[in-house]
Amino acid sequence: MDIRRPRGCGVEDGRSGEGWHVESTEDASPTRIMAKVAILGATGRIGSFAASAISHIPHVSELLLVGRSGREEYLEGLARDLMDSFAARGTDTRVSWSCETEDVAGSDIIVCTAGVPRQPGQDRLDLALENARIIAPTARTIGRVAPDAILFMVSNPVDVLTTVALDYSGLPHQRVFGLGTHLDSMRLKSLIADYFGVHVSEVHTRIIGEHGESMVPLWSATTIGGIQISNLPAFSQLPTDEMVETVKNTGELIIRQKGSTIFGPGEAIATLVRTILGDENRILTISTYIRKEVHNIGGVCIGVPARVNRSGVFPVPILIEKSEVQAFRQSVERIRSITKEVLERLENTDEIRSSG
Ligand SMILES: NC(=O)c1ccc[n+]([C@@H]2O[C@H](COP(=O)([O-])OP(=O)(O)OC[C@H]3O[C@@H](n4cnc5c(N)ncnc54)[C@H](OP(=O)(O)O)[C@@H]3O)[C@@H](O)[C@H]2O)c1
Repeated sequence: MDIRRPRGCGVEDGRSGEGWHVESTEDASPTRIMAKVAILGATGRIGSFAASAISHIPHVSELLLVGRSGREEYLEGLARDLMDSFAARGTDTRVSWSCETEDVAGSDIIVCTAGVPRQPGQDRLDLALENARIIAPTARTIGRVAPDAILFMVSNPVDVLTTVALDYSGLPHQRVFGLGTHLDSMRLKSLIADYFGVHVSEVHTRIIGEHGESMVPLWSATTIGGIQISNLPAFSQLPTDEMVETVKNTGELIIRQKGSTIFGPGEAIATLVRTILGDENRILTISTYIRKEVHNIGGVCIGVPARVNRSGVFPVPILIEKSEVQAFRQSVERIRSITKEVLERLENTDEIRSSG
């Protein structure tokens, strides 16, 4: 075994550094394409847990933890702690850290969890402009230094920030997406499975639209054991409105109870990264730019079912019930108007224009 300190990214000037990489005596499987994943906002609660969750994915050979200038010591400590976890687990993943966004060059996937989180009682959309001012210059740098990467937005409000990231990075729309309503869909799935007393894998359901107040549950696309849920006699008793309210309020409830959501979003992020790197072609509900895939509604980034693989995300054209179309249209219009306002205000922000 060769223990070495790899060439650093900015180690010399003290801004960043690298951990230690234990090289395996065996090459990676020839059929497995190894990948570098960068996490922006790695010093945050979701960023640091996501780093650990992502490190479990066999395709990930290298993790880059990116934080703000002034957080060098924390990043160094996080890298050491993760390396210890790899040692305990017996895996061979390289970890490095940096305070420079430019160091994401060469990454296959860049996960962005940087931004100000919601405070108790604060709506995700209140955050829009504040976080857009952080994301816009970052996305512009990513587009310049990592033009082949997939950019995965987590920061809220995720639908609005996915459009900001798409616009400012200049990357193709299939390679910029957001966590969207994936976690909301998983929360609903879990509630339905619990109600019917079945394993979660027996339930398929989706929530589309905004990751927030105007989200739209697709009961027309919900099955249990392959049976359309409305064909089950028990469906008439199902407290559907109550379940959707629970899904809408879960994030805020967790924030109120323990300060932040961590494990749910962290595992959801890892699922998406695994699906991409494994080229799995799973259909997951994420925020992506739609043109007319849902009843000709489009022109914005919002949560819809998409096929996810190594090339990126591809929205699946769907037909849904009339009431669902109406609710989805309202959700799209709400996100469209906030996104438009945020983009216009960003355009007028001198610091962002001049950073181009
Ligand atoms: N889409 C979803 O389903 C979902 C779910 C949960 C959370 N989220 C969102 O994910 C984001 C992270 O949440 P969290 O709980 O991890 O928050 P957190 O613990 O406060 O972490 C925020 C991260 O962003 C960094 N940051 C803050 N201000 C910054 C700035 N001006 N420039 C660059 N980086 C900055 C922080 O750096 P420092 O450590 O230096 O402060 C930290 O790394 C939030 O926007 C949250 O709303 C999304």
